[in-house]
Amino acid sequence: MKFNTRTSTRLPLPETTARAHSRLLCARINAALEEANGWLPFDRYMEYALYTPDFGYYCSGAHPFGHCARNGSDFITAPELSPLFARPLACAIEAALDASNTCEVMEFGAGSGLLAAQLLDALGAQCARYTIVELSGGLRARQQATLAERAQRFASRVRWLGTLPDAFEGVIVGNEVLDAMPIRLFARRENQWFERGVTRDQPLFRWLDRPVDLDQWPHELMELLYSIDGHHDYLAEFHQAARAWTRTVCAMLARGAALLLDYGFPRREYYHPQRSQGTLMCHYRHHAHPDPFFWPGLQDITAHVDFSGIADAALATGAELLGYTSQARFLINSGIADALAELDPLEPARFLPAANTVHKLLSEAEMGELYKVIGFGRGIDQSALDFAFATGDRSQCL
Ligand SMILES: C[S@@+](CC[C@H](N)C(=O)[O-])C[C@H]1O[C@@H](n2cnc3c(N)ncnc32)[C@H](O)[C@@H]1O
Repeated sequence: MKFNTRTSTRLPLPETTARAHSRLLCARINAALEEANGWLPFDRYMEYALYTPDFGYYCSGAHPFGHCARNGSDFITAPELSPLFARPLACAIEAALDASNTCEVMEFGAGSGLLAAQLLDALGAQCARYTIVELSGGLRARQQATLAERAQRFASRVRWLGTLPDAFEGVIVGNEVLDAMPIRLFARRENQWFERGVTRDQPLFRWLDRPVDLDQWPHELMELLYSIDGHHDYLAEFHQAARAWTRTVCAMLARGAALLLDYGFPRREYYHPQRSQGTLMCHYRHHAHPDPFFWPGLQDITAHVDFSGIADAALATGAELLGYTSQARFLINSGIADALAELDPLEPARFLPAANTVHKLLSEAEMGELYKVIGFGRGIDQSALDFAFATGDRSQCL
């Protein structure tokens, strides 16, 4: 996220070089559209917009993460807000490393590298190796710079992997990675389901729905769409890529735990009849808006996570659910208050900003409730992370 302050319809115009950059990406998307007879499912479009090497939003060398639009950023994430986010997360990781008798961490989608630096700091010698898996070459370079600057003494323990090992023992972490994975869109109109995709139009692209033969689709999609009550128009997201990624990552986890943090809901809330417009959202210069065709490549595109789908995918690999709760509960249970208490309130210049960011992380009106944490484990004592999930566990809602 995409933790943003403004919801906008009037967006600032990108500067000339950025617009030229976006036009080059659009030419690539147009070529793909031509090859696909003029129609792309939305997940293909989203993948082009976010991950085309050198041109996609996450791959262009832009700096999406930051506090305000002045520095060219588009949104802020929890680790960018405060190091106090990493401290309780590190407690949970430490417990999982202990319980599995392992000493490695693997982070997916490490963004600017700040969380890695903070976790390495907090874990110290307990983390013998920290592996980062990052799709974007530009962000990988940024992570390397961040770690060289902030966690120099740990640099020799960090490595980047382009392909996944067959098996991993340790703790897997991903903050706001699932929401950045391409989604498919399905629209119900007059009781018929269509797949919503993208076609060419002036000046760029527009939506185009195609009837779908649901019999050709995975059983889980059919079940999901037909479970949505009512006959009214409805837009549903299907997280095929996120489910596939979860299956792969949990199958790779031979021993240890996976902790995934993101915004989203369990299925019953996600596909609630009243949530009829879906959750697709774009972020540009700290403005949130719903148009994925606004200057492709210059803005983030994201959707909330269907945590029931993620749990189904993980459990299908034989992994066990360790817990599912709100970010606020997870951070409180794992000791964020202790981390804050280490700061001296008589030093207001340090204490007040820290207290303010803790409020943002925990407040129901900000990140505390919309954001969730889900944990999976294999070969570890299931109660190892009870302390982190025990109060406020919502596993039964998945
Ligand atoms: C919204 S950013 C979050 C960055 C960071 N974790 C944070 O909290 O600031 C999403 C990140 O996930 C990465 N990403 C998306 N899909 C990925 C995948 N399948 N494997 C690894 N990284 C991925 C993106 O390149 C980007 O770095």
